[in-house]
Amino acid sequence: MANQTASYVLVALCLLVLAAKGAEARQPRLVPAMYVFGDSTVDVGNNNFLRSSSVARANFPHYGVDFPSSAPTGRFSNGFNTADLLAQLLGFQMSPPAFLSLRGSTMRSRMYKGINFASAGSGLADNTGHLLFGEVIPMSLQLDYFAAVVEHMTRVSGSRKTASLLSRSIFFISTGSNDMIEYSVSRGNDTEFLRGLVATYKRYVTALYTMGARKFSVISIPPLGCLPSQRLRRLKQMGTQGCYDPLNDLSLRSYPMLAAMLQQLAYELPGMTYSLGDAFSMVSFVFANPRTNAWSFTVLEAACCGGGPFGAAYACNQTAPLCLDREDHLFWDANHPTQAVSGIAAQTLFAGNRTFVNPINVRQLALL
Ligand SMILES: *[C@@H]1O[C@H](CO)[C@@H](O)[C@H](O)[C@H]1NC(C)=O
Ligand SMILES: *[C@@H]1O[C@H](CO)[C@@H](O)[C@H](O)[C@H]1NC(C)=O
Ligand SMILES: *[C@@H]1O[C@H](CO)[C@@H](O)[C@H](O)[C@H]1NC(C)=O
Repeated sequence: MANQTASYVLVALCLLVLAAKGAEARQPRLVPAMYVFGDSTVDVGNNNFLRSSSVARANFPHYGVDFPSSAPTGRFSNGFNTADLLAQLLGFQMSPPAFLSLRGSTMRSRMYKGINFASAGSGLADNTGHLLFGEVIPMSLQLDYFAAVVEHMTRVSGSRKTASLLSRSIFFISTGSNDMIEYSVSRGNDTEFLRGLVATYKRYVTALYTMGARKFSVISIPPLGCLPSQRLRRLKQMGTQGCYDPLNDLSLRSYPMLAAMLQQLAYELPGMTYSLGDAFSMVSFVFANPRTNAWSFTVLEAACCGGGPFGAAYACNQTAPLCLDREDHLFWDANHPTQAVSGIAAQTLFAGNRTFVNPINVRQLALL
């Protein structure tokens, strides 16, 4: 009898779970599609198809240990990354698929809901990542791929329908960190470097606009100097603990330049709208408030997966040390946040106030 009751309860629970899943799937999407551009912070597997070194790949354990089925997919995370979690808030299941994973028929069925062009190790400059990682997809090539997709859509649906779909879709961009880290190795004139970086960024946002994009969600460069890899760099160079300040100074300086560039574009280009997430402020806020009602981090400096000082001296792979509790770590590997931190970033991009997202957040951008 007790067993029977238990099994009825179990069946009822299963039905509830199924009903909840059905409801989730029926949740309306706020935008027709999401297109993603950038680097490892949002790559969902494009680099699996390249001849890049293992440092620019994440398609092996322990990557993905908290992803459904613990699958290593190419995401530089223990689970979902910021593109996935933002996509979920917009009503999608996860990030759109990696461009290089699509072929003929899958391309045709997927391109109307979005594609992810991001490539780990890449940057705004064409040569960023090339020496360190081998083959990566620079921003210029990500845009060439997108241009081919737009052409394909136009052939199938006509230019009016394509333009309408693209104008309502979200274009999510997370890039610039790799350019900055490479520049920091042999610094020249910082002002000139930053101006060049933002000018290149402007060119690519303008090119996307020309192809039909109107709604841009951009995330600025985070305080890179506090990455475990950069803490190790400081320890080696100066023998002291802490964030690597030259990189933090650069990313701090880049934010107002990026903000001014986007504001200028919105003024120049009719119908161009954007939401700029201030990654520097977001990460600084979490460092200053590691414990709140919404989260609790106890390890702020060391990577969860990886060995040596700060978990940054030996890369994350199947034989590397792995922390037990990913929820209490800010950093997953030497250069990337945990899913928990990406969740905070996505939630803040989507619904945050003007301390963190300007001039509007992504929910407001989607509903425009
Ligand atoms: C760096 O470049 C800026 C802009 O070109 C210039 O005004 C400045 O004097 C340069 N700084 C140095 C230290 O050369
Ligand atoms: C994992 O990385 C370490 C050092 O970073 C390396 O010595 C080892 O061979 C790697 N293991 C695998 C399975 O790739
Ligand atoms: C924005 O949100 C943060 C975090 O929730 C909060 O600390 C801050 O006071 C808010 N700022 C404004 C202007 O509402």
